[in-house]
This record gives sequence, C-alpha cells and structure tokens, in this order.
Amino acid sequence: MKPAVPGPCVLVVFGASGDLTRRKIIPALYDLFQRGQLPRRFAILGVSRSGMSDEAYRDHLAQWAGEMARQHSEAAWSQFARHIHYCAADATRVDAFSAVGAAIESAGARHECGSSILFYLSVAPQLYIPIIDNLAQSGLITEGKRWCSINRDETPWQRIIVEKPFGVDLESARSLNRALGRTFEEESIFRIDHYLGKELVQNLLVLRFANTIFEPLWNRRYIDHVQITAAETVGVESRGEFYDRAGAIRDMIQSHLLQVLALVAMEPPGRYADAPIRREKIKVTEAIRIATAEEAAGRCALGQYGRGPRDEAPYRGGKGVAPDSSTETFAAIRFDIDNWRWSGVPFFVRTGKAMARKLTEVVLTFRQPPIDLFSSLSEAHASCGNRPPNRLVINIQPDEGISLRFEGKVPGEMRIESVKLDFDYAARFGGEAIEAYGPLILDAMRGDQTLFKHRDEVEGAWRAVAPFLDPALRRGIAGNYAPGTWGPPESEHLLANSGCTWHNPGIEETR
Ligand SMILES: NC(=O)c1ccc[n+]([C@@H]2O[C@H](COP(=O)([O-])OP(=O)(O)OC[C@H]3O[C@@H](n4cnc5c(N)ncnc54)[C@H](OP(=O)(O)O)[C@@H]3O)[C@@H](O)[C@H]2O)c1
Repeated sequence: MKPAVPGPCVLVVFGASGDLTRRKIIPALYDLFQRGQLPRRFAILGVSRSGMSDEAYRDHLAQWAGEMARQHSEAAWSQFARHIHYCAADATRVDAFSAVGAAIESAGARHECGSSILFYLSVAPQLYIPIIDNLAQSGLITEGKRWCSINRDETPWQRIIVEKPFGVDLESARSLNRALGRTFEEESIFRIDHYLGKELVQNLLVLRFANTIFEPLWNRRYIDHVQITAAETVGVESRGEFYDRAGAIRDMIQSHLLQVLALVAMEPPGRYADAPIRREKIKVTEAIRIATAEEAAGRCALGQYGRGPRDEAPYRGGKGVAPDSSTETFAAIRFDIDNWRWSGVPFFVRTGKAMARKLTEVVLTFRQPPIDLFSSLSEAHASCGNRPPNRLVINIQPDEGISLRFEGKVPGEMRIESVKLDFDYAARFGGEAIEAYGPLILDAMRGDQTLFKHRDEVEGAWRAVAPFLDPALRRGIAGNYAPGTWGPPESEHLLANSGCTWHNPGIEETR
C-alpha cells in the first residue's frame, strides 16, 4: 500500500543557500514532485542571509537539481521551481522573523497551502538553539500551546526537522532538547537520521516480525553475539575540519549505529506505528549498560589511520586535520544490554574510515548445538567447537541482502561442510537505490515519526558512548592501522577476549 500524499503545507528551510539544501533537500523534493508524491498545494521558502530574489535563488538551485535529481527536464524543473521562494534574513536575529513570517504567509497564500508549516534546520548546529528560540518568540508556533483543546487533524500544525549532529555530548544534546521542548511538542520534533532511511528500518522490522522462524531464536538462549559494522574505504577527504572535531564515535556510533542496534535488539512493538516502535527502541537504549571509566578501556578499540603501504596519505596532516590530532577514525565498542532477552550477549559495534571494504552489515552468530552428534567424524570436523557456528548476515549496503550459514552434508560421503542460503534484494526486486531524504521529509509532512529519533533515544545514546569519549583512550592511537585494513589489532583483541572473531568478508564475499 502506498502511503497517502500529505496535506498542504509550507516547507521553510533555514540554510537555503547551503550544501545540504542544494545537494540533498531540494533534489529530493524535486524527485518527489515529479513522482506526484508532494502535496498538490505546497510551497518551499528558503531562508539564509545572502541577498537573492526568488528567481536568483531558483537559478542557484537549478544547476544542482539537474545534477543530483534522478530525472530532470527543463519543463519539470520550471513547474517545480514555481513553488520555491526565498527570504533573506539573519535567523539569529529575532527582529528578522517578521519578514520570515510575512514571506511564509505570502507563499502560503500564493499556493493556497494554508498555514501548516514544516521548518527544516539545515544550518550549522550552533544556530539551532538561537533559531528555535526566535521561532518561539516570533509567534509563528501556535500548535503546542493549545493542543489539549483542539482536534489536531483539523488545525494547522508547525513541525520542525533537525539535522544531525544532535549535540556533541549528553549535556549539549540535553540543552538542544530543552530548547526544542520549550517551543514544540515532542510529536512535532523530527530529529532526522538519513542514514537509517526507510528501507533499512522496514527491512529489519519485516525480517524480524513478519516471519515466524527468526524471532524464537532472537535471544540470549540461541545467539552468541551480535556484530554491527559500518566501514568505508575512503578517508575523511574534504570533511577533515568537521571530522576532526567529531571522530568516529560521534559521527557514526552515537548517531546511527546505536539506532541499528536498537532495531536489532528491540521487543516486538504492539502495532506497526511510530509511537509503539519508538517506545521499544527507547527501552533498548535505556537498557545499554554504561561502562565505568575503568571498564571503558577494556570495552573499546580506537584507531587512526596512518600512511598506507602504497603511500596513501595518513589522517594526520590532511586538510582541516590538526597535525597532532588524536581523533579516532576507527572505533569498535562492546555494548551489553541488560534485559531478559539479551543479558550476556555482547553487541560489538564498529565503524571506520579507510577500511578494507565498504559495507554496512549486521551479523548474528548463533550458539553451537548443545551436543555434538558427529564428533566421531573426520578430524577436520571433530567436534562442534571446530565447526563454524550458524550465522545470519544482514547486509545493509552496498549489496543489500540476507544470508544464513549452516552445516550441510557433502553428497556421497559422511562429511560436513558449511553452506549458505543467500537472498539478494537487487536480484529479486531490482536494484534501484532509494534516496533517504525524500521519504523522510514526506513522513515529517504526514506527522509519522517512525524513522525519527525521540529525545530519550538521543540522550540514551549519548549516555552509552560517553565513557568512550574520554581523551585518555585516544593516547597513542595515531597511525595504529594502515589504510585498506580492518582496523588496529586491538579491535581483534576486543572480540578475542570474548572468544569471538570479526566477520571480515573478502573482496569476493558479500554476505
Ligand atoms: N552537507 C551535508 O551533506 C550534511 C549531511 C548531514 C548533515 N548536515 C548538517 O546540515 C547542516 C547544514 O550543513 P551544510 O553542509 O549545508 O552547511 P553550509 O553549506 O555551511 O550551509 C549553511 C547555510 O546556513 C546559512 N546561514 C548561516 N548563518 C545563517 C544565519 N545567521 N541565518 C540564516 N542562515 C544562515 C548559510 O547561508 P548564508 O551564509 O547566506 O547565510 C548557508 O545557507 C549542518 O548542521 C550539518 O551538520 C550536512
């Protein structure tokens, strides 16, 4: 079933002239427009400081739309571009908001799209709180102040999408959540995680809860440990300045990979709807054991890529990177979830730049059978302990698919070998990549928060990673792994301490 086209609204993008808006947000909206998925009556209002007319702003976007959108034609662009307007304003100044308010009203009237407004904060993170506070003072946000007494389906709404990064630590995330909470209801706040995208979340939920065969095994009784990996082959490239302040834990683990962990570990929601799904994810995040300062070193392995064997440039000394930087470009962390389902099952989460393979995957390794019926067979497979355990690999990208490894008998002899059941999404359903931004913006227009983070998830994730942000853990990590590898040796030791090894697929192996 296709979801309904949202009702009319004005989308106000703060950061109108910026990189994210021109490369991602506008091309995604343009694609939605061409597929008939945007509301028939809608307007886009861009806000940034640079002085530009509507026409000049449309021209600024046109070139990017041509490059970044899936389909492009002059005719389609000019139809779409008619809905785009621009207001030059310094959004950190409250007195600029009368002009912003007037521009919203004028765009809303011109396109007959009423007074529901979706704000999008596509500006530098230090501007989030000033803009939210100015919105509060501007009188543009009326919904939250009277929600108890109204039928929300029939009155104009005001919602806000907030880009990552959502804070740099627990304290800054709390401040941002407090600022948002002073002005917006939680159900009007959309903390976007484009990395998750709709497909990944839906696939994981369908795999787990639309099948009977996995869920009974999905617990401490049958699963030995879980691995979640997001590896990139590229280094930080032009993002050095941003990355050097963030590092792998902030950039990937706190923001994205703990979301994946929550989807893998959550209990079945009561219904397929945003509130029950988010409630279950929050419970997982809150059940993650918080490492003490003493424990943290034994539960993580951090690294920073050095110069490569083929003279690849090291992280230190790259553009925007401090020459003595101790920022981690690789992180592997063991998380434990203290609840009945997962007690005693380690979740190993790792991410890195300049790694051997580009891939994002979840690997569930099962326990060995309770007795070894075949111990009298050949030497090579003498006992259960020597046979590879059953393994379910959920490959999220680039080769989306699922594979299950189990033991099979070799024909004609009583010998056991590992075999695989392999499911490839592209082969079965076609390989069209689905851009995350468009569906997420549509969800925000519809008020569907399934794929957006609740404040408790964000704060829970910061709490879980906080012990691993300690600068003391970063001493001496410079150059401790070479580009094109799976990270520093400490990463292997982290798993070996629990009797596990990483799933490091070779070039030819995808799942
Ligand atoms: N770029 C990406 O691929 C990406 C990916 C994920 C998340 N993000 C996040 O998205 C946000 C935007 O990133 P970006 O890369 O697009 O940044 P950017 O290229 O630096 O753009 C910033 C925008 O903010 C505007 N701006 C700055 N000060 C302003 C003010 N006082 N009032 C109104 N507008 C102001 C700038 O225009 P003027 O100078 O004309 O005012 C510009 O349009 C950041 O939080 C970033 O972390 C970006």
